[in-house]
Amino acid sequence: MTPSQPPTPPPEDAVRPHVYDGIQEYDKRLPNWWLYTLYIMIVFWVGYWAYYEWFRAGPTDVQGVELALTRIETQKLASNTKLDDATLWQMSRTPAFVEAGRATFAANCVACHLPSLRGKSENPSAIGPDLTDQIWIHGGKPTEVHALITQGVLAKGMPTWGPVLGQKKISEVVAYVLSKHHEGEPITIDPAAPATPAAATP
Ligand code: HEC
Repeated sequence: MTPSQPPTPPPEDAVRPHVYDGIQEYDKRLPNWWLYTLYIMIVFWVGYWAYYEWFRAGPTDVQGVELALTRIETQKLASNTKLDDATLWQMSRTPAFVEAGRATFAANCVACHLPSLRGKSENPSAIGPDLTDQIWIHGGKPTEVHALITQGVLAKGMPTWGPVLGQKKISEVVAYVLSKHHEGEPITIDPAAPATPAAATP
């Protein structure tokens, strides 16, 4: 066998001066695809790091998981057709419902109950009663509040919202009102309230 000759390098690739264990290397330029991948990674890294670490704009892993769980919980509640006190309390602790309810309240209820929900307690010339205190005219259980908003008290100037808003928006607005309350807090019936609560009238 004839000893094989080392391949002659292309003229542009100089041989680097060092030798290790008899091995020499060409001074080869890195291929463009490799270099561009590196540059793109560097640019991406700066953006990624800035987004998550400097500005903390993106959710952390923990927040991401919590967000996903909230979304699942929200969907479960939204598809729950049986509305009971427990479901409404749970909705009132779920930001998606409270936020939606806040918007409905701002569009329909603030004229009488004021943006603070405090109505007459804040401004005696307001039409609607305070919805944040523990004194209720028509009962403070979530289902009672829901029924009252649905039916209204026309004689006293509280409109009938059932046909206007529909079931979903009323549940959300109840969640918003309840978000100003705590489950298990005392419910006092206004001593000046009429004997028959409106929620019980057809
Ligand atoms: C035109 C004025 C007006 C608007 C608008 C209005 N309300 Fe009322 N609301 C009243 C009045 C007046 C009462 C008190 C009824 C009574 O004395 O029986 C009341 C009572 C209530 C009660 C019962 C409070 C209790 O102590 O039992 C709830 C709950 C309520 N409103 C929620 C709402 C929501 C939610 C909206 C918006 C979707 C809304 N109201 C819009 C005037 C209004």
